[in-house]
Amino acid sequence: MNDETRNRLIAAAREAAKQAHAPYSKFGVGAALLLTDGSLVTGTNFENSSYGLSLCAETVACATANARGRLADIIAVGVIGGMIGANGLRGAAPIRPCGRCRQVLNEAAQMGKRDLVIWCAGAEGDAFEEHLLSDLLPHAFGPANLGIG
Ligand code: THU
Repeated sequence: MNDETRNRLIAAAREAAKQAHAPYSKFGVGAALLLTDGSLVTGTNFENSSYGLSLCAETVACATANARGRLADIIAVGVIGGMIGANGLRGAAPIRPCGRCRQVLNEAAQMGKRDLVIWCAGAEGDAFEEHLLSDLLPHAFGPANLGIG
């Protein structure tokens, strides 16, 4: 996968994050999933007044891909986040998927029988990190442990 694909995913994640529902943390997150046919599925964090019910952007995006019958077709992920300011999200530090989201992404990876490339960026700027899911979540428990996939 090339720079153009990475930039496309980060841009889509930044666009998606504009819809973040994060009035409590005031930290917006956007995720973009690249599917095998080149199409994208996006998600944002979706907080709740009962704080513990909040959903992360990567989880929302994976559930959306699944609702479209595409859970096993995810090949790469872009994730961005930043504090919500008066004129949009702020912050250039790359953010990485939380532990729960790594496990959710692993469901997609194992169902698709492939590792996932994960590009992490901030809400602004050019800094990014490239990771493999297998590096972020080594020795994962997954569908194969239950005889699935
Ligand atoms: N968040 C995500 O959406 N994804 C992550 O991987 C880390 C955290 C959200 C959850 C919460 O709405 C906000 O960021 C602050 O934790």
